[in-house]
Amino acid sequence: MSVTQAAPPLDIDVMGPEAISDPQGYLAGLRAHHPVFWDVRYRSWLITSYRHVAAALRDERFSSDRIEPYIRKKLSGPDTDPLVRQAFDVLSGWMVFKEEPAHTRLRRLCNQAFTPQSITKLRARVESLCTELLNAVPTTGEFELIEKVAAPLPSIVIAEMLGVPVSDRADFERWTAQVSPLVSTGLDDPTRYGSVAKGMDSLVKYFSGLIERYRQEPADNLITALVRANEDNDALSEAELMATCTLMLFGGHETTANFIANGVLALLRHPDQLALVREDKIDIKAALEEFMRYDGPGKTVVRVAREDFEFEGVSIKAGQRVFLILSVANRDPEAFEDPDKLRLDRPQTRHVGFGFGTHFCLGAPLARLEAGVAIPRIVKRFPALKLAPGPLKWLPFLGTRGMRELRLIAG
Ligand code: HEM
Repeated sequence: MSVTQAAPPLDIDVMGPEAISDPQGYLAGLRAHHPVFWDVRYRSWLITSYRHVAAALRDERFSSDRIEPYIRKKLSGPDTDPLVRQAFDVLSGWMVFKEEPAHTRLRRLCNQAFTPQSITKLRARVESLCTELLNAVPTTGEFELIEKVAAPLPSIVIAEMLGVPVSDRADFERWTAQVSPLVSTGLDDPTRYGSVAKGMDSLVKYFSGLIERYRQEPADNLITALVRANEDNDALSEAELMATCTLMLFGGHETTANFIANGVLALLRHPDQLALVREDKIDIKAALEEFMRYDGPGKTVVRVAREDFEFEGVSIKAGQRVFLILSVANRDPEAFEDPDKLRLDRPQTRHVGFGFGTHFCLGAPLARLEAGVAIPRIVKRFPALKLAPGPLKWLPFLGTRGMRELRLIAG
């Protein structure tokens, strides 16, 4: 396939307004001409082509451990607030930041709890919850989709899966909201540490109680399954249970909300595809993969070079940060025909929206279930649904492709 994008000016800004509102368009030229590019502004490598991103996700020289080095460098001084340190310690136990063999061990134990059957049996609940949320939206006039449906659906589902009682839900959601800037904006914003650390402290105390409770009184939920997970007499430690509960909570919360909202936006911008969904003329499995490829919510994953090495003609130095820009790789004309078109019947979209290789998203079946229930229901519920006037407000984050709000007009 030919490369048609113009060469970009080399002072691109991946956090600038154009990159935030249209990363795939803004970075298309970079992908074509400099698929592995040293970004002077952020002192990081940007990898944007499908082939290079997929290769880096498989390559162990790109380390997933970006927390421990950060803790060592920035948070080991005597004046570090112990609550901030605790928040980062919890994060450092997340399997997504682990390397072999620690990663494989954790992933195996978690796989025992997060099984395909445990997800399949949630379908009826996800459907009824989605209907309930949609019933609360008036059938005419303006509404905000993320607040009303796309965010509460995954948030209630994960709370219920974990075994959070309904009576605790309001507190639980408040603490979760306090911690979420740490997960969505990354580690570089110390001004937010105070409230994040307090929220994490509340969550740690709360999860400790819940873990103890389900150890004593097992129930049909994820925490009980995690407590029971065992392989060759090896089980998750208390700290690992804590890390895994918080990872499940944050891994699938905002990502799935954005998956739903971005999917609805993509349909409203492609009336021919929207009609196919409304008329049930799509294979929802293929359609979900195409929504992920076209404008999935995971924009970028981060790696750190483990050593000095040569990669596709460039010299990468130990410790350098690498941004793998999944959203841009997913629109690579070398990998996908007509990549900027949403085609819900696209055969075999081998996108990298859920990552690739050993760290491939553990929660992908849950995200697919929720979005597969929500997206068709939303557009069928309102036959004349349209975007409210005004610009879209994209979140100014490198890791996430999502909107602050998606205002729609029902009808
Ligand atoms: C559309 C929604 C979602 C997207 C786009 C997404 C994206 C991703 C990506 C790109 C990775 C790989 C990260 C890396 O390689 O560094 C990942 C890993 C992970 N995700 Fe998701 N995710 C989603 C939903 C979920 C849900 C619902 C959960 C759980 C409830 C979840 C849990 C995880 C976990 C535990 C990992 C780490 C896997 C490992 O390290 O082995 N995710 N996700």
